[in-house]
Amino acid sequence: MTTWGHTADGTAVPIYTLTSGQIEVRVTAYGAHLISVKAPDKKGKMADVVLGYDTLDGYLNGPKTYFGAIVGRYGNRIALGKFTIDGKTYQIPVNNGTNALHGGPKGFDQYVWKSREVPDGVEFTLVSPDGDMGFPGTLTTHVRYTLHGDTLRIDYSATTDKPTVLNITNHAYFNLSGDDSTDILGEKIEINADKFTPTDAGLIPTGELKPVAGTPLDFRKPEAIGARINDDYEALKLAGGYDHNFVLNGAPGRLHLAAIVTDPVSGRKLTVETTEPGVQFYTGNFLDGSATGRHGIAYKKNWAFCLETQHFPDSPNHANFPSTVLKPGETMHSTTTFTFGVVE
Ligand code: GLA
Repeated sequence: MTTWGHTADGTAVPIYTLTSGQIEVRVTAYGAHLISVKAPDKKGKMADVVLGYDTLDGYLNGPKTYFGAIVGRYGNRIALGKFTIDGKTYQIPVNNGTNALHGGPKGFDQYVWKSREVPDGVEFTLVSPDGDMGFPGTLTTHVRYTLHGDTLRIDYSATTDKPTVLNITNHAYFNLSGDDSTDILGEKIEINADKFTPTDAGLIPTGELKPVAGTPLDFRKPEAIGARINDDYEALKLAGGYDHNFVLNGAPGRLHLAAIVTDPVSGRKLTVETTEPGVQFYTGNFLDGSATGRHGIAYKKNWAFCLETQHFPDSPNHANFPSTVLKPGETMHSTTTFTFGVVE
């Protein structure tokens, strides 16, 4: 652990470097961000495969991209920022058109978490007070990053003292090329989902679980990310690319395959497994060159993809979606693994 810098109020911000011999990962207590993931290409050359900034200042003051952030309390959108638990309505301040995104204007990505070293990694802890961003209950959240050979594992757990809702994920932006200077449209993705959740223009799910068959969201067989991204298809037009929740095949609560991405040029391969029922596949549609990251590169549209393993957007307002309610006495557990290999 070293001190990376300080927040405006003078709080020291630790940064940790984890190494397994196969991959090297950097994480910081500020927003429990995943800063860097170095993985080998087919020739064994190590390079960073996530977008990010060289300095803490980028995370404190850069444009709101959520590069590698832990997002909470509620990853993705809640319609109008409103939901009801046990007959009581709660209001989260809206920060994305008329909706609340990633926990509201001051989410988990903007706090210095407590940290401690654990075997193979580091654990971050945040206690969010009752009423934080309008959410009920004191919520204690642990996020643990550990390395196991070529796998980065993230374990999440949380408890509350009042019934509440939560949806916590990591918002890493991957670019398997390793040099940040190309888009990801040529990288190939396979997503283990027969269905997705179509949305309205504000990217709020309509409630339908729609088969991907016959649509440009069918990634049940590997396909280049860019092959159909500009198709004349409503869901792509609304999002300006891919920005959709896929309903994963496989039993929630147990690790199952979410997605496999390969880069034909570098030969890198990323496999994502999760206990979550969904994954938000987002192709960096809002990157517009205003975020200048590592190596002085201005990140442009489609410069990275995100695979945010999570419950479905706006679940608190959809009784047919897996529940995001957490009650006192219960513990939320969730695990996602990112495994870095090379194509055979
Ligand atoms: C998620 C959302 C996107 C966008 C990014 C952050 O992926 O679904 O619409 O808000 O986060 O920019």
